[in-house]
Amino acid sequence: MKIRLDKYLADMGLGTRSQIKKDVRTGSVSVNGTAVCRPDVKIDTDKDQVLFQGQPVIYEEYEYYMLNKPAGVVSATEDRREKTVLDLIRERRRNDLFPVGRLDKDTEGLLLITNDGKLAHNLLSPGRHVDKVYFARIKGKVTERDVIEFARGLDIGDDKPTFPAKLHIYSSGKLSEIRLTIREGRFHQVKRMFQAVGKEVIFLKRLQMGTLVLDEKLHPGEYRKLTEEEVKNLCLQEKKP
Ligand code: URA
Repeated sequence: MKIRLDKYLADMGLGTRSQIKKDVRTGSVSVNGTAVCRPDVKIDTDKDQVLFQGQPVIYEEYEYYMLNKPAGVVSATEDRREKTVLDLIRERRRNDLFPVGRLDKDTEGLLLITNDGKLAHNLLSPGRHVDKVYFARIKGKVTERDVIEFARGLDIGDDKPTFPAKLHIYSSGKLSEIRLTIREGRFHQVKRMFQAVGKEVIFLKRLQMGTLVLDEKLHPGEYRKLTEEEVKNLCLQEKKP
């Protein structure tokens, strides 16, 4: 891919376009061993070697992070009052990252953060039926009857009932623990599904989205880059009808 030098450096988080233009004009940048003073020079991101203040700058078109979202932060790119999931990704270079889908403020767990709009669209698009797996603690006794009702589809007050969902009961009592797999991403879907059977979600954590599984080593608030394998698998899944 060929892009302007100032965009190359700005995308890699080295400053604003106007700051970078100044840096380039004052000789802080070299391309393939030669000082360059024009910010509009075209860079081949696959071939050219760019140094900024003597340090190599490798271009990454896309960044992919897996975050274990803690409760108490909002799934937004910016917010005037609340801490956002992007505030937690300290090492990010690009400034066009966004969370793929939303988890409620009090929900924890897997959140993919990227600037790959096509991948995000394909993972979220309702027609793709990408599985999302949640662990939840429920106030009330979750029963085999609930398993059947979730599998049939529930009326949660929308135009259409929910798609069949797979409910697995780990333990059942005054408080129950369950795993739920759904293929949609409606607003407050898991909480509304349990409401529909007269129960309340008191803790919710996403464990998996499509092929991407939350890394158990990540504590709430921690994140890591996706491995090449994880990105490849998400992209392969994206191509499935
Ligand atoms: N369902 C919910 O109710 N909340 C979430 O955050 C995700 C799924």
